[in-house]
Amino acid sequence: MARIPLEDNFNDVINKSQLGRKISDEELAAKAEISLADLAAVKQGKPMDAVIRRLSRHLRLGPNSLETLTHKLWYPTQPVFPRGFMMFNTPFEDMTVNSYLVWDNKTKLAAAFDTGANCESMLTEIQTAGLTLRYIFLTHTHADHIADLPKLAKSTGAEVWASEREPSDYPGAKTFKENAHFHLGDLAFKTLFTWGHSPGMTTYYVTGLSWPLAVVGDAIFASSMGGSATHFLDQYQNNNLKIFTLPRDTVLACGHGPLTTLAQEREHNPFYAR
Ligand SMILES: [Fe+2]
Repeated sequence: MARIPLEDNFNDVINKSQLGRKISDEELAAKAEISLADLAAVKQGKPMDAVIRRLSRHLRLGPNSLETLTHKLWYPTQPVFPRGFMMFNTPFEDMTVNSYLVWDNKTKLAAAFDTGANCESMLTEIQTAGLTLRYIFLTHTHADHIADLPKLAKSTGAEVWASEREPSDYPGAKTFKENAHFHLGDLAFKTLFTWGHSPGMTTYYVTGLSWPLAVVGDAIFASSMGGSATHFLDQYQNNNLKIFTLPRDTVLACGHGPLTTLAQEREHNPFYAR
């Protein structure tokens, strides 16, 4: 697969933090002791290091990781699963969206996470590897993530599951509570409610593969996180409590952008690095 670019630039991170924390331009400029013109320029993407450094403090962003992002000096080392895991990246409008497939190697039972804009390559993989798709787990129900749900569900007969906080309107779809467990052969899945970007955003913690895996939807991205104008602080707190407490070698499979790991985000994600 071609290298998937980071989902957000430094100014996206600044805008998300400012919007989420509900700080006006005037207030932010005054606190950071910068001009409104400089603030506007940075928010448009002008890489003014001194201004960005001042802003980072008042937006609670890690100054070093934000500077690294500003100059595009980092890209996550991509974890490798020898078997049982595949990532799909499909174009949706002017962006791309990820979906994932995991399976138990002995029983060939599989679970999909979201469908992406187009599930064709996932269906091909299911067929080629001789898998039986048992579950379709939704991270959340934003259109880009579930665009091909009818096709994936109909052609595999898999059960569709989503959070009780954000049920899917797909006919027959089921809902789970927090800390629900599912099993496929040697794989175990646990649901973590990491809402904020959407009301029922779910992180699926998967064990039994070569690395612990957290399929996080838009809760977190490599060096950024899913935005929310209304529930940013909930998202932030849920991520801290439920994702950043997982083992450090946990692979994060994000809804947009490349794969990453918890340890890498601890160091390079401006929202979580200090
Ligand atoms: Fe989303």
